[in-house]
Amino acid sequence: MHLLVTILVPVLWILAVGAFVLLVRKLVLPSGPVRLEVNDRLMDATPGSSVLEALGTAGVLIPSGCGGKGTCGYCKVRFRSGDVPVLPTDSAWISGEELAQGYRLACQHRIFGDMAIEVPEKYLSIRRVQATLKAARMLTPDIRELVLHPDESLDFKAGQYVQVEIGDTEEQRAYSIACAEGSQDIILNVRLVPGGLGSTWLHSLPVGKSLFISGPYGDYELPGEHGTQLLLVAGGVGLAPISSLVRTVAATRNDMSVRVFLGFRTLEHAYYLDEFGSLSHPDLEMHVALDSEQREGFYHGFVHEMIKNVYEPPQKQPVSVFLCGPPPMIEAVMDVLSEMGISRSDMFYDKF
Ligand SMILES: Cc1cc2nc3c(=O)[nH]c(=O)nc-3n(C[C@H](O)[C@H](O)[C@H](O)COP(=O)(O)OP(=O)(O)OC[C@H]3O[C@@H](n4cnc5c(N)ncnc54)[C@H](O)[C@@H]3O)c2cc1C
Ligand code: FES
Repeated sequence: MHLLVTILVPVLWILAVGAFVLLVRKLVLPSGPVRLEVNDRLMDATPGSSVLEALGTAGVLIPSGCGGKGTCGYCKVRFRSGDVPVLPTDSAWISGEELAQGYRLACQHRIFGDMAIEVPEKYLSIRRVQATLKAARMLTPDIRELVLHPDESLDFKAGQYVQVEIGDTEEQRAYSIACAEGSQDIILNVRLVPGGLGSTWLHSLPVGKSLFISGPYGDYELPGEHGTQLLLVAGGVGLAPISSLVRTVAATRNDMSVRVFLGFRTLEHAYYLDEFGSLSHPDLEMHVALDSEQREGFYHGFVHEMIKNVYEPPQKQPVSVFLCGPPPMIEAVMDVLSEMGISRSDMFYDKF
């Protein structure tokens, strides 16, 4: 009897709370669809859904690197109407000035009535396409290369990424494009995160299967200025977007000098070195650091230490920096480059 009461009371309590929440939602939320105005387009939205979900349903695919958890800050939009509260997750990613202008994270706010929001115009042309896994291979013990063949080509720029829908779940994950601009196939490098939903699924996806991707996303653009030096720095799987940039510049931009600094744990964790070695470009230098292994021909230590010891910024050329890797690596490299006199406004980064 005592056991029955111990089980029944919490169950009844949970059911009562659930019923109460449903009742409040029914009383508070409009019964039918509401009107969502996005830039100058009008669309229907379901009350109670997040703004991010409503936009996705209406085919407006804004970036959402963390899949709606409020931890990437990518889904920033401007609310033109309504008194939308500022949540701690908003202020973690959005400046005070932008908060005052109505910017919020679309994944953190729900739709309760008609709303007007503004998204960058470029997001209106983002597309969702089906793709087939054409080929796959292990590049290192934990990084799998996936060659996706999309049904319609995605016109991406070097340094951009796509969002991959993870199987039958509602989840998406961001992955950088690793191939050169103009490629019809989309190549991804996916590092297996133990217990990770997206990376585990992508590591077990058989060749021949299809999946959905959307994109391209990402704001980096190769500098237009003739003669600029491109400084590319990657740690681990952060090599993916750097690979796209190196291959694109080698094929299209002989006017640039390119300095590539790569950091891996051991030689077993390094990849694409042979491919980069065979690229033809008049002024491309590549330096590789291994922090957990001593090998002839490789710097022994962290990539920021190697940069400090090896890199000499040009005196007259402008420098454009793209960094990609884990957050501590990015911070350490940015500190070293700042000490060398390179402005943080010339440094673009993707942390993951
Ligand atoms: C713009 C962008 C580009 C990206 N490009 C790439 C890419 O080219 N290749 C790539 O492999 N990844 C990339 N990522 C990271 C990728 O989107 C996923 O976050 C990553 O694959 C983990 O997802 P998951 O579903 O496997 O793990 P989740 O299920 O999301 O997480 C499982 C657990 O692992 C932890 N975790 C999550 N991410 C990491 C991580 N990176 N390292 C260690 N622990 C983690 C979480 O805290 C959680 O505890 C990129 C991210 C962004 C924002
Ligand atoms: S999707 Fe990452 S913060 Fe909103």
